[in-house]
Amino acid sequence: MKKLLAISAIVLFTAISLSFINVKEDPGYKNLKVLPKNTTHDQMDSVMKHFAKSLGVKCNFCHVRNADTKKMDFVSDENKNKDIARAMMKMTNKINKKYFGHEGVAAITCYSCHNGKQEPSLFPPADEDDE
Ligand code: HEC
Ligand code: HEC
Repeated sequence: MKKLLAISAIVLFTAISLSFINVKEDPGYKNLKVLPKNTTHDQMDSVMKHFAKSLGVKCNFCHVRNADTKKMDFVSDENKNKDIARAMMKMTNKINKKYFGHEGVAAITCYSCHNGKQEPSLFPPADEDDE
């Protein structure tokens, strides 16, 4: 799990790391504003699964379904959570860089705050032993 997170983090937070990866395919993503344009299919898969698992949601939390074709339209920006997620990506990136001096390997990821929830908790769980 730790390794998986590290991999997602690398993919997510640097374009630099991509220069080490041999890009063989061009999956032709059409609407990337934060991720590198040459993101591969495997990398996209890993990043998107990381998002979904970190927030405890499915793809449709951030992506809309085309009413005519009934297929998921991943290119569309119709779902407002997609742009919120973009802002979160930039914020996470900035926290790693500015506050932890991490570039390439993340100190924090979406999961660090979200912990499987749509909205991060404000308070720790109540402890019955607390006096
Ligand atoms: C928390 C929000 C969120 C979730 C959940 C999510 N995505 Fe995304 N997805 C995004 C964002 C944001 C982008 C655009 C990234 C950018 O602009 O660089 C994106 C882009 C994509 C793209 C690229 C589309 C293109 O051509 O530009 C694909 C494919 C995709 N997502 C698939 C999925 C799949 C499959 C799932 C479920 C496993 C999923 N996403 C779950 C936020 C999300
Ligand atoms: C530093 C902590 C932190 C990190 C890291 C973080 N988030 Fe968030 N996120 C929040 C908080 C706090 C909220 C709730 C905002 C509010 O209440 O206004 C939120 C809300 C969201 C929402 C809206 C959820 C809703 O129900 O409206 C999305 C989507 C989201 N985050 C995606 C992401 C993604 C994707 C990542 C990783 C790239 C990420 N977040 C990383 C703190 C974080």
